[in-house]
Amino acid sequence: SGEGMLMVTARAPTNIAVIKYWGKRDESLILPINDSISVTLDPDHLCTTTTVAVSPNFESDRMWLNGKEISLSGGRYQSCLKEIRQQAGDVIDENKGICIKGEDWQKLHVHIASYNNFPTAAGLASSAAGFACLVYALSKLMNVKEQYELSAIARQGSGSACRSLYGGFVKWAMGNDVNGSDSIAIQLARETHWSDLVILIAVVSSHQKEISSTTGMRESVETSELLLQRSQNIVPKRIKQMEEAIRNRDFTTFAKLTSADSNQFHAVCLDTSPPIFYMNNTSHRIINCIERWNQSEGTPQVSYTFDAGPNAVMFAPNRKVASLLLQRLLFYFPPLPGDDLSSFVIGDQSILQEAGIG
Ligand code: PMV
Repeated sequence: SGEGMLMVTARAPTNIAVIKYWGKRDESLILPINDSISVTLDPDHLCTTTTVAVSPNFESDRMWLNGKEISLSGGRYQSCLKEIRQQAGDVIDENKGICIKGEDWQKLHVHIASYNNFPTAAGLASSAAGFACLVYALSKLMNVKEQYELSAIARQGSGSACRSLYGGFVKWAMGNDVNGSDSIAIQLARETHWSDLVILIAVVSSHQKEISSTTGMRESVETSELLLQRSQNIVPKRIKQMEEAIRNRDFTTFAKLTSADSNQFHAVCLDTSPPIFYMNNTSHRIINCIERWNQSEGTPQVSYTFDAGPNAVMFAPNRKVASLLLQRLLFYFPPLPGDDLSSFVIGDQSILQEAGIG
């Protein structure tokens, strides 16, 4: 029964890095070796919805992901739960007869139910939305003070998750502190700042990635000299340029930096021993298609970025160019008979009509 039960539901979107995070200086606190910048997606698409509940009847912390129970014993879940409990405040609801003191949260157990509105196995970053949503929902349930920097907790679930606590354009500052207190997310611009920008995602393969980002990063940090050069001498410069491009809505600079940084990240993977291949042949064909188009126009029409998997995330300066891109992609990668074209576009389907398809 719901007797004495308190519940909170929250939703968080995933984010796509345009200047990549790759490499940790501290694995347990998840502290990065460079700053990164991302775009948080529209919350209607690629998001996680999480409900957290507390009841004196719960005997242990438990979690269900898409209806299936998963273990919370991992260090990342434990760090998030522990940190949130430490910041928990009083929750008093006289109508429901609820009176929980801050310190009571140490003994109370929570149940967590989380859903992704996209296939978890689609190889699209789900941990970013997942941990951001979990930490946010728990902070509301446990009445954590507004000012408390939640991104420093979400970071300990999954590095990229800290950036999903804010909408729009977000920087994750690497920080200097050994305890990670200044390794936090900072909003660079609101979601409305660059509303013409269109993001398209091509699901190239729905297979789960072979090498986790954790393992990949560790191996790159240990073996790639290019990564050292990148993090110390290249990324700091790119962060400044990217911040300026975002501020000025300068698509040309944004596009060049985004593609270059994705390619450098994958070059680091190739420079790792043994080498890591996240992109596949189809990814390479997409890059080629976009690069040839950009070359023929003389300035970047669209840009692309790939994370630890083969799926392409593409940026267009407006809907008109986005629909041209869609036409090109469908020309090079013709859909099979019976393919549902609506599944090609996550979100606003009208772009299909605009492209003369669907
Ligand atoms: O936070 P993680 O462990 O999922 O790592 C994310 C790494 C990349 O997606 C490749 C880059 C990034 O900055 O999101």
